[in-house]
Amino acid sequence: MYTDSQGPQNYPVPAEMTVADIQQAIEEFAHSAELAVQAGFDGIELHGANGYLIEQFLNPNVNKRTDAYGGTPQGRMKFALELAQAVVKKIGGERTGIRISPYGAFNDTGPFPGIDEFYVELATRLSDLGLVYIHVVDHSAMGAPPVSADLKKKIRLAFKGTYILSGGYDAEKAEHDLAENLGDLVAFGRPFLANPDLVAKLKAKAPLKQPDASKFYTPGPDGYTEIA
Ligand SMILES: Cc1cc2nc3c(=O)[nH]c(=O)nc-3n(C[C@H](O)[C@H](O)[C@H](O)COP(=O)(O)O)c2cc1C
Repeated sequence: MYTDSQGPQNYPVPAEMTVADIQQAIEEFAHSAELAVQAGFDGIELHGANGYLIEQFLNPNVNKRTDAYGGTPQGRMKFALELAQAVVKKIGGERTGIRISPYGAFNDTGPFPGIDEFYVELATRLSDLGLVYIHVVDHSAMGAPPVSADLKKKIRLAFKGTYILSGGYDAEKAEHDLAENLGDLVAFGRPFLANPDLVAKLKAKAPLKQPDASKFYTPGPDGYTEIA
């Protein structure tokens, strides 16, 4: 576990959440979404990617539960769907998006049998709940197996709202994929770390600074500096 002041620290094997814990987490998400909107945010993004809590339910490599929240694909989707439904009830689907990372490998997740069908069904059911966007991360630029063009297309067809592409984009690839109608919007990660003024630079077609990977996950302003 990363800490700023004491470097990496050991952490205990987490205990499986009880059903009461799950209910509490759902209420906390919904309440937090409501507070975010009250505080002036346009909406919230449910983080269903990168091995964080929601994906810990989705992915059978880490979800070892034998109750209603594990096992079958429907069981593994249950938490995400109940959570999305509770948030939509509080703030509305037009203010609720979700981020997912099929084939992502962070935090011991990784591909699993039936993964494409699983994500298409999840996208369909999230669409039915009226979520405003689905944000699909392809982490192949960071070493994970790629999300196939076929799966991206199927998720896009299954989800009626806005489709956000992300992972390994520069301006040229973004323009290309938008022109090909592979998605509606593109999200940028690492280019922003080295270029806090990324939007202005892209508009001006100005050269970008390269992010310094040795400064990722470290405290202080150095994460923003250019490699000499
Ligand atoms: C230093 C660093 C920290 C990140 N932290 C998170 C995080 O907390 N949660 C998350 O979902 N993704 C995180 N990411 C992944 C990015 O959101 C993004 O998906 C990834 O960098 C791929 O997009 P890119 O190629 O545009 O950078 C992080 C990436 C970097 C480089």
